[in-house]
Amino acid sequence: MLPQQRLELAVSIAREAGERIVAARHSQTFNQQLKHGQELVTDVDVAVDTLISERLDAGLPGEQRLSEELAPDREVMRTADALWVIDPIDGTVNFAHGLYHVAVSIAWVSEGKTRLGVVHAPFLGETFTALCGQGAWCNGKPIHASRTTNLQRCLVGTGFPYRRDSRPPLMRRLLAILEHCQDVRRNGSAALDLCDVACGRLDAYYESVSPWDFAAGVLIAREAGARTGHLYPCPEGIPEDLYGENLLVSTPEIHAELGDLLRAADANELRTY
Ligand code: IPD
Ligand code: CA
Ligand code: CA
Repeated sequence: MLPQQRLELAVSIAREAGERIVAARHSQTFNQQLKHGQELVTDVDVAVDTLISERLDAGLPGEQRLSEELAPDREVMRTADALWVIDPIDGTVNFAHGLYHVAVSIAWVSEGKTRLGVVHAPFLGETFTALCGQGAWCNGKPIHASRTTNLQRCLVGTGFPYRRDSRPPLMRRLLAILEHCQDVRRNGSAALDLCDVACGRLDAYYESVSPWDFAAGVLIAREAGARTGHLYPCPEGIPEDLYGENLLVSTPEIHAELGDLLRAADANELRTY
């Protein structure tokens, strides 16, 4: 199946998944549990992952998947030639609290490169899509990253891991951004943060996340003209498009400066703050 046809299939599945999420919000009957002691998961996350997996299997039988709830074994990133990467609900905490930054994220990766991505935000009525080498769109209209050149005017999105003990080191980065940029936003969906960079609402995004959180969004941002990359070298054996540690995605003109700022914060080298 051609990438364009795969994208159309992924969009129709993401929209059906979005309807399921909206219906669950209205009925308010879902259960909440903690995964690994601190990560919130609802039975809607699992139901939506099941729906997406069944639809992909029906349309493209036997293709491999990496999905947050049903198939989270990352070894497949090293071994599969081609892979669907799925986050059924990105923004689970928002979903459970009645907030609107919630997305379905589906990407298809082959030979180590993300070829297509869809991020569908059912409560916001926005469907972001991208095809490798062909551009990025929101509800079918082309989107473009901002062209901000001045760090002081940059609005920066980020997020924080569920593990409490991973948070304190990130405070240095946060302080550096608050000191040198316009402000920060923590909207609770990495996929939508990346789409917000893609359409120029945010100028930059940095975070360490799992492959399903960012695989689709990072392609959308890149295809919209943002520069995508990592603060530090990536390990061998995992496609860079699926390596989620120390991501930095921004308008091209500020990428180097922002990278220097965040690395200096990590090394505790900043003189200010
Ligand atoms: C989370 C969101 C959040 C990010 C977390 C992710 P989830 O995904 O993307 O913005 O800060 O690191 O785990 O758990 O809602 O699918
Ligand atoms: Ca997620
Ligand atoms: Ca999720």
